Amino acid sequence: DWDAGSVIEEQVAQIRAQVGDKHVLCALSGGVDSSVAAALVHKAVGDQLTCVFVDHGLLREGEAEQVEEEFVASTGINLVVVDARQQFLDALAGVRDPEEKRKIIGREFIRVFEQAARDVVGHAAEDGHPVEFLVQGTLYPDVVESGGGSGTANIKSHHNVGGLPDDLQFSLVEPLRDLFKDEVRKVGLELGVPEAIVWRQPFPGPGLGIRIVGEVTADNLATLRAADAIVRHELTRAGLDRDIWQCPVVLLADIRSVGVQGDGRTYGHPVVLRPVSSEDAMTADWTRVPYDVLAHISNRITNEVEQVNRVTLDVTSKPPGTIEWE
Ligand code: XMP
Repeated sequence: DWDAGSVIEEQVAQIRAQVGDKHVLCALSGGVDSSVAAALVHKAVGDQLTCVFVDHGLLREGEAEQVEEEFVASTGINLVVVDARQQFLDALAGVRDPEEKRKIIGREFIRVFEQAARDVVGHAAEDGHPVEFLVQGTLYPDVVESGGGSGTANIKSHHNVGGLPDDLQFSLVEPLRDLFKDEVRKVGLELGVPEAIVWRQPFPGPGLGIRIVGEVTADNLATLRAADAIVRHELTRAGLDRDIWQCPVVLLADIRSVGVQGDGRTYGHPVVLRPVSSEDAMTADWTRVPYDVLAHISNRITNEVEQVNRVTLDVTSKPPGTIEWE
């Protein structure tokens, strides 16, 4: 029988054996995977671990704070925060193609992380502690879907930390490589990671950048972030969080439709709600969210988010649709 306690014990022993007295670096994304991976490594080697959080500005409302404050408070992990929001906006200016966005976000992420890593490596070296390892929150489904497992084709270029230069080569510590998401959550709870993070629904590395169909601008991000916050709040309030695997909200920034508000014509953007039920994100079905909850979400978004005048629902399973739109 599967047991979180023994997985932790096993991994802690394995991490200690792998790492020895060397130092370990971890890129914290704000998601459950990297948080639990970091907590596990922290349990194994304590202050030998330094986490870097790159704030790329593509997170949802409140998420950066959750990492910088709540996670640090509950784990005592050493965290370096890099504010790279403007750099990502500059790099994404004018880009509409999904794969190009993914590549740019991945590339900028590596650039920023590389610089932060150099700083950490430099400081650690001054203190006589070489950094030789990098933590990755890779899960079993990531391994399979990125083609690393059973020869499956690469469907989307997944965002993770790869391609670092020669002088920054680390060995990987991947304590979640054999686990599915639900198992990662159990491990996280057992490790005392805050519930808000453990139960956070999966969120893609490229973040809101691949939930804007069109250009990633500060305005589009603000619009999407506001709509997304309403959706999350209302789904939580309706007690649906644990029935829904995740509910991407997608802003169709390149589409406008005519609407009416008060006496005036509007010409705003639609958002798409994409609630899905799934076991492991490899397949998914669209979640039958009660109509009254959808109605309330729709009213709130169209009233409170100025640029949005239409709310639509994606009723496609995976396959053929992927969960994310890009
Ligand atoms: P798709 O859209 O391929 O998504 O059905 C499957 C699951 O993976 C998440 N996703 C990502 N996660 N980096 C990640 O860490 C990525 O680049 C990425 N793209 C998609 C998606 O949210 C869903 O849970």
